[in-house]
Amino acid sequence: MKRNFSALILASILGLLIVAIGLGFLFGPANPVPWILIAVLVIIILVYRHVSTKHQVKWKDSYSVGVSSLDEDHKKLIELLNQFQIAYKYHTGEEYERHALNELVNYTKYHFEREERMMAEREYPDLEAHKKLHRDMVMEVEKFLKEYESRGHEALEGVATYLSDWLINHINGIDKKYQSYLA
Ligand SMILES: [Fe+2]
Repeated sequence: MKRNFSALILASILGLLIVAIGLGFLFGPANPVPWILIAVLVIIILVYRHVSTKHQVKWKDSYSVGVSSLDEDHKKLIELLNQFQIAYKYHTGEEYERHALNELVNYTKYHFEREERMMAEREYPDLEAHKKLHRDMVMEVEKFLKEYESRGHEALEGVATYLSDWLINHINGIDKKYQSYLA
């Protein structure tokens, strides 16, 4: 609700600025006021962009597990996670929020299967323990999805943090252990 309100305030300020710029130009291009307002508009947009992407997860080369296809999967997961965070934080509407969440969950499942298949092919010794971690995570996410069905948007509080913490810790910790077997 608070975020909806701030988005509304921001949209109103931007709208007013655009109208003021238009009116300013009625007095000719030599009038400095619309140019100053354009600069203010650009600064507001840049600051807003910076603040809204500050908490997004960014891929680091140090996350690499030494297998390019799995690195690509992990990058895609980070991208989908950021998309979901935006959908949740900025109240983009149920349809987009649900779509972003489903895409993230489905890709996570697809990636786990692919990773497990590769580990099995290389006879990775910790395969069963690793599979259990994947299973537990999927179960936790299924619980979130169920909650979402009954409580809607409010049920997603904490989900983005859980998912980003889990994924980054997993990619950057547990997944690294198979590096020497799969690379
Ligand atoms: Fe994994």
